[in-house]
Amino acid sequence: MIAPILRQKSALRAAVKAWKQAGETVAVVPTMGALHQGHLSLVRAAETQCDRVIVTIFVNPKQFNNPEDLENYPRTEEDDAQKLSHHRVDAIYCPDPDQIYPDGFCTNISISGLTEVLCGAHRPGHFDGVATVVTKLFTQTLADKAFFGEKDFQQLQVVKRLAADLDLPVEVVGCPTIREEDGLAMSSRNLLLSDRARIKAPALHEALEDMADGLRNGGTAEELGAIARKRLIAAGFNEVEYLDLRACDDLSLLNKPDRDARLLVAAWLAGVRLIDNIGV
Ligand code: PAF
Repeated sequence: MIAPILRQKSALRAAVKAWKQAGETVAVVPTMGALHQGHLSLVRAAETQCDRVIVTIFVNPKQFNNPEDLENYPRTEEDDAQKLSHHRVDAIYCPDPDQIYPDGFCTNISISGLTEVLCGAHRPGHFDGVATVVTKLFTQTLADKAFFGEKDFQQLQVVKRLAADLDLPVEVVGCPTIREEDGLAMSSRNLLLSDRARIKAPALHEALEDMADGLRNGGTAEELGAIARKRLIAAGFNEVEYLDLRACDDLSLLNKPDRDARLLVAAWLAGVRLIDNIGV
């Protein structure tokens, strides 16, 4: 059954109020739509951990630093609702833009440090946009738990920091990246890849796995990263924005995985920006 699609925060609040009064726990899965198995794995996790599940679909203009990227972002609401009908979803919140950014809106939530590296360094304002909309989605849904994919590892760390710093009464739960059979991390942006580019795309994950092997065998991120960058260009990628080994907690740059570490990459392939990461 297709869950009710709510577009006004008053309708959302009424539903949430009734659930909370009945003593039920509420999960939120924030998305920008174009749902794939990665999103659906978050919904499954939410279903098992909470009584009620809200999926939000909102293509947030504030987190796009490039107007063309915003315009090209896939929008597939009917399809998304259909996919969610196979899950125990209680409400799909697709807020009208003024429900998130009413006239005169001038608040910006900005997190320092964590957002100044990796995607934050290449997409100015992106994480301010994410932090601002996520805060609004948390306060509007009053969710007890919120589910995010590790595919956006930096985003997950930023949202955890945000919730801790602002005492938001929500537990932020990270869920593993879901991959296609050939290793490509599932992403709504994969829909933008041409057939030719799609064939080349798994090289991104292969580069991470090879580099992780090299690190386990005593290599340094500096030397292995240089080799991996060359391999990606040879495989057809146009540009590697970053390919870094970073500490999981504060995202500081590492040359050896001597703490809990993650390899993270962002690269352009035929006009599409792909990101991925793996634990080391
Ligand atoms: O990961 C996303 O899809 C978005 O950044 C999010 C968390 C829904 C905020 O717009």
